[in-house]
Order: sequence, then structure tokens, then C-alpha cells
Amino acid sequence: MAMVIVFGSLNIDLVLKVKHQPVVGETILTPSYEWFSGGKGCNQAIACSRSGVKTAMVGQVGDDGFGTRLMNALKRDEVLASGVARHEKEPTGTAFITVDDAGDNQIIVASGANRLATADQVPNEILHKDNVCLMQMEVNYSENWDVIHRAKGVGAKTILNLAPAGTVPRAVLDDLDYLIVNQIEGRQMAEKMGLKIEDSAIAMARKLAESADLICVMTLGPLGCVAMKPDGKGWQVKAHDLGDDLADTTGAGDTFCGVFAGCVFQKMSLQETLRRASIAGTLACRGLGAQSKMPRMEEIEEFLEMVPAAQAV
Ligand code: RIB
Repeated sequence: MAMVIVFGSLNIDLVLKVKHQPVVGETILTPSYEWFSGGKGCNQAIACSRSGVKTAMVGQVGDDGFGTRLMNALKRDEVLASGVARHEKEPTGTAFITVDDAGDNQIIVASGANRLATADQVPNEILHKDNVCLMQMEVNYSENWDVIHRAKGVGAKTILNLAPAGTVPRAVLDDLDYLIVNQIEGRQMAEKMGLKIEDSAIAMARKLAESADLICVMTLGPLGCVAMKPDGKGWQVKAHDLGDDLADTTGAGDTFCGVFAGCVFQKMSLQETLRRASIAGTLACRGLGAQSKMPRMEEIEEFLEMVPAAQAV
């Protein structure tokens, strides 16, 4: 079956609202906390499915209540979850997230069962050229590289969201069609590749695209995103301004990636893909928790007239 396959992490997010982020040595009080389903892989799979594309999630959770919550969340959003294994001993991944009054966050992830996700959970039988494979960096890197290599081998499109940042071997870059980074991740990657660090995001994305010979997409937070092709051509999309509706930016990047993969699967142009992914990432920031306000495609399209078309850069 043609679909987007997301190989990656699943976490329960324990979210604490704070007035400001604590500094080293500081203790702060907050009345309570909320818990949500999350994890970069799970968030991206749900964002992709809500955008109207058949999506499968592959990863590992623990045999515990958190794992059950995540399986139920996937099912509610019609994500195929048969590829999510339940580990007998390791607990489900858990993220501790503080969200401050500006909607910004700090996250610590206890990986748990995510560390045991293996590439062979993505059997060759489900890899074929019409599929898109989307990965992040919260599982063992070597398992990611294996999936990327086999996916590329059958002609599937491969997308890596380099979050959190890590080192990507040259041979893996050769197997990638798209690399999605934020500005910090892009800078760290450029440093690791020994590239000259550029001041502007556009110049940095261009350099990464040329050096790695892939399409480099860089998200710019409230400023939107850029995408550069290896031939130096690129586009920029400005973000929609949420104003006072901004509540929590935790799911922005993952929603961007999930919708981006869905649009690639539907063979949309890069310009239209960027626009929809950008709108979706912004809309996801309207509620607490990564997944609570992830939009469906109809809602994304209602915002198209408020977000100018991609501009060549
Ligand atoms: O990108 C946001 C996600 O990062 C959260 O849902 C959290 O689980 C961490 O993995």
C-alpha cells in the first residue's frame, strides 16, 4: 500500500506551565502538569495522517499505561500502528517539557523503549517507490541509516528531520532526498561538515543543500521557512502570525515535517509543500501539547489566502 512511513520515537509528554524557564540551580513552583501523547515520530505521523495521507508509524513503546495511551492516540488519528512494538522491560519514552509565558519550551527526553526501535521493524515488503519515509533523531542513528538506505534502494523518497541534531555520515546524505532542520540544527550540521558558517539562514541552507546534494529545508520559527535545492534555486515562505492565539510551540516543527512528508507523497510542488507545511506548523501552536491543535488539510487550505505564495530567493 502506498503511504508515508514514519520510523521514530513515541513519548508521553509531561507538560509544566512556568512563568519563565528555570536557570541552573533555580527551583520554581507550578500548580500542576498535564500529559499528552508526543515524541517526534508520533507527532509527525499524526500530523501527516491529519493532512489526509495514509500513514504508518514504526517504533517501540513500553508495555505500560503510557504505551497504551500512545497506541490509542495513533488509532484515533487513523495511523497504522501495527509496526509499533511493545517492549516488555523498557518503559515508554517520556519527555519533561516546561512551557513559559511566551509559549517557548525546554525539553528533556528519557528515551526508554525508543532506544530499542530497530530498522527490521520496517520490512522490505512495505518499502516501495511510491512511499515516503520520514525519520528524526530520537532513535538509534544506525537504525535510521538502515531504513534510509533500503528505502532509497527501492526508489522511495527519504526525508530526515535532524532533530535533535546529530552527525550524519556522508553515505547517508547520499541516500537522502530532503533534510529538514531548524536554524540551530542547520548550523550544527554545517559545523560538523566543516562548512563556512553563514550569517543568513538562506545562505546556510544553500550551502547545506549544495554540499550534501539534497533539498535542504530550514524552519525559521516565527519567520517561516526556506528550502534550497542543490542547484542553488530556493524559496521562502513567511509564517502566518498567530498573535495572542500562540500557546505552545512544542508541536510546530513536527507538524511542519509531517505535513511536508504528506505533500511530498502527493507530489505537490516544493513551493506549495512549503506553504502548507508552514501554515500547519503555525496552527499547531494554538494549544498546549504537540498534537492538540494539529490541523486537518481543509483547515490548512482555509489559511492559504492569508499566507503569500513562496518567493524565490
Ligand atoms: O518535538 C516535540 C517533541 O519532542 C515532544 O513531543 C517530545 O516528546 C520530544 O520528543
